[in-house]
Amino acid sequence: MGGQAVGAGPRARGEPSVRVLVLSGPNLHRLGKRQPEIYGHRTLAELHEQLHQDAEGLGVAVECRQSNHEGELVDWVGAAQEQGFSGIVINPGAYTHTSYALFDALLGAGIPSVEVHLSNPEAREGFRRRSRTAAACVGKVAGFGEASYLLGLRGLLVRLAASSASNPAGVSSGA
Ligand code: DQA
Repeated sequence: MGGQAVGAGPRARGEPSVRVLVLSGPNLHRLGKRQPEIYGHRTLAELHEQLHQDAEGLGVAVECRQSNHEGELVDWVGAAQEQGFSGIVINPGAYTHTSYALFDALLGAGIPSVEVHLSNPEAREGFRRRSRTAAACVGKVAGFGEASYLLGLRGLLVRLAASSASNPAGVSSGA
């Protein structure tokens, strides 16, 4: 990436042309209080602020949302393309391990998604070792705390830049 503003297009002086939806699932609203030895001491609001700053440096915009409800996350994923988002960074929380509905939503979203986790689920309890949702994503970042979101955003932008280079007309293939 080399710090290049990948979203800097014709609208770069006003609104960034690339908008990324950042979703966090159940219990992530309690970051900072919830098992800080695993998830860290920073709050979700602080993480969102950091993401906004990073996105600005990269010439893109992020919109960050959190929900404890599977259906709401499914609705947000399903509406993202129509709402003008170019891609999704998602930490589905425990829905990672259970939700075929979220898998289907991500698969049909029409825009690429990257799955992120603060912890490394594969190094934890057995039930966390399987992700139901990752197979619908173009990539996954786990185990780096807050940096997983920031790295996930960068990875998504690499993917978007590659697909717009190979598809300059902007015809969406969904990944
Ligand atoms: C998590 C990992 C999940 O297993 C867990 O249910 C979470 C957080 C993470 O970010 O490390 O809620 O997604």
